[in-house]
Amino acid sequence: MRILTGIQSSGALHLGNYFGAMRPAIELQERGETFYFIADYHSMTSLTDPVRRREYTRDVALDFLACGLDPARCVFWRQSDVPAVTELAWLLSTVTPMGLLERAHSYKDKMAHLADGDLEKVNHGLFAYPVLMAADILLFDSNVVPVGRDQKQHLEMTRDIAGKFNALYGEVFVIPEPHIQDAVAVVPGIDGRKMSKSYGNTIEIFSDEKSLKKKVMSIKTDSRLPAEPKPDADQNLAIQLLKLVAPADVAAAMEERLRAGGTGYGDVKKALLEHCWDHFAEARRRRAELAADPGHVERILQDGAARAAEVASRVIARAKAACGLSH
Ligand code: ADP
Ligand code: TRP
Repeated sequence: MRILTGIQSSGALHLGNYFGAMRPAIELQERGETFYFIADYHSMTSLTDPVRRREYTRDVALDFLACGLDPARCVFWRQSDVPAVTELAWLLSTVTPMGLLERAHSYKDKMAHLADGDLEKVNHGLFAYPVLMAADILLFDSNVVPVGRDQKQHLEMTRDIAGKFNALYGEVFVIPEPHIQDAVAVVPGIDGRKMSKSYGNTIEIFSDEKSLKKKVMSIKTDSRLPAEPKPDADQNLAIQLLKLVAPADVAAAMEERLRAGGTGYGDVKKALLEHCWDHFAEARRRRAELAADPGHVERILQDGAARAAEVASRVIARAKAACGLSH
């Protein structure tokens, strides 16, 4: 079983990204052959700064490798290092109805929130994004594609496009199954809403100790005094986050202390800070090591690209032969 997913850079990694997306993706290494790529071609539809693109790409690579992606087991590469994907995107675009793309939520949302005169910002790449995404998936005979709920429609489009191509030119593509990570709980941010960069309520996992402390100490709490029992201790944000980063018995004991009374929120936050720092200590160490050796990271990505290109060349040859482009 081949498991494939594309990873967008979305800025500094926070607890929500880690527990909601990265850790589950890394765990899938145990379940099959994983193919993970950094979607740098896709980033061009919205980001136009070459320096930032390079930095983001590097950061995603460092984050994943530091958090346990194993290049010996996982084929890990930069999308643009296997350019056959753009060739396949062209073949697929010729069987993709305009109407299908016009119904895409991502594109419709962009259009709906457009300020007057901003039509220029809606580029063809954005409109055609689902076709490139279909190519990402179909080029590697992927069986399973783990994604968040927001990507469900893109997966349906991929299946549609593959089906159309197969109907026209023969059984060329494997039809992929989405693996929607619904079971993953939503990690709350320091203000109680879903943790998200767009709300400015994140706790970054690789920030320095001082910034981490600042974030943890500003977690929203109510004004009950330490002495008061808090029967709703499980609703406390710091407790909820503690459960993610501390051993289960430690978090349970802290919850119990809060419930019983005599423990203030400051103590819970202090415990959270310590456990958060320790939980990622090993990953932080590995990340620093990797960051100091860019050549090593580059070799991992190049090696991944070579392995990915091998699969890609077989599939693109099959697709071209089927539609009469080569002999
Ligand atoms: P952000 O909301 O910070 O911009 P993204 O939308 O880029 O984060 O999300 C990247 C990945 O991390 C997605 O797969 C998303 O489902 C996951 N994710 C983000 N925030 C959370 C959260 N608070 N809880 C669980 N998963 C999350
Ligand atoms: N569109 C996906 C996202 O925004 C990223 C992505 C690009 C992807 N190509 C993919 C995901 C192929 C899965 C398979 O998160």
